[in-house]
Amino acid sequence: MKLFKALVPLKKHLDQQNLTSLGLVPTMGALHDGHLALVRKAVEENEKVVVTIFVNPTQFDDQKDLDAYPKTLEDDLEKLACFGEKIAVYAPEVEDLYPKEAVSEHYDFGELETTMEGGSRKGHFQGVATIVQKLLKGFMPTRAYFGEKDYQQLAIIHALVQQKELPIEIVDCPIVREKDGLAMSSRNRRLNEKQRAIAPQIYSLLTQVVEKKHTHSIEEINRWVTAFFEQQAEFELDYFCIADARSLQPLRDKNTTQNARAFIAVKMGEIRLIDNVKF
Ligand code: PAF
Repeated sequence: MKLFKALVPLKKHLDQQNLTSLGLVPTMGALHDGHLALVRKAVEENEKVVVTIFVNPTQFDDQKDLDAYPKTLEDDLEKLACFGEKIAVYAPEVEDLYPKEAVSEHYDFGELETTMEGGSRKGHFQGVATIVQKLLKGFMPTRAYFGEKDYQQLAIIHALVQQKELPIEIVDCPIVREKDGLAMSSRNRRLNEKQRAIAPQIYSLLTQVVEKKHTHSIEEINRWVTAFFEQQAEFELDYFCIADARSLQPLRDKNTTQNARAFIAVKMGEIRLIDNVKF
């Protein structure tokens, strides 16, 4: 497994191999089993895979959050070593991807970016689209792999690829959970012992929401979720919403679509966790 700090030599390395297919797995590092599931799938489906490790500054609207984001390159490389020569790792400094200034491009994703994460994290998806476009155009992979935990991000990336007419297959990969149900996330390692012990309640709440599907209206479910969090000192609810899985617009009536998902974001102290399930 080779590590590259710059795009140009990595592109040269790949071009020399006359590949029939290339997979791309963009990450911000602090790798966990969820990331490794993406890499495994990419390795199964492509002749060669590039895993990128880059904490993208333009998608953070809060400098404190950016500074606190775990950076664990050595540990990440150890986790990836088992994939051997099938993968190459690209872990650049900011200047390699943003040679002038680390600022976002401008995109119009319409309603897709105004709800949920877009409402809570100003400019977040403009930053995500900027870096994903750079990586997709830089490597022009056959397929690129993203997890459904960041479901709204995935919808934005599908829209980006369509708008820019990039001939790249975006592969949606299911959420990987800890044994107790907590969705795997690089942010989980920042939870203290007490927070980690109760964090699985987020997923347990979502499964109860799904159970209420046939007996409660969406308004009743929304009220039930709000009441649950009013009694929880450790959690601060950012948003909960049952939305159409394509448009991501909140639903008022559960009978308007067969294709709905329940989305949630909560804060535990400084740490923000998100999750979603099919509704
Ligand atoms: O999901 C992530 O880890 C990031 O948002 C991504 C897609 C690697 C872009 O920085």
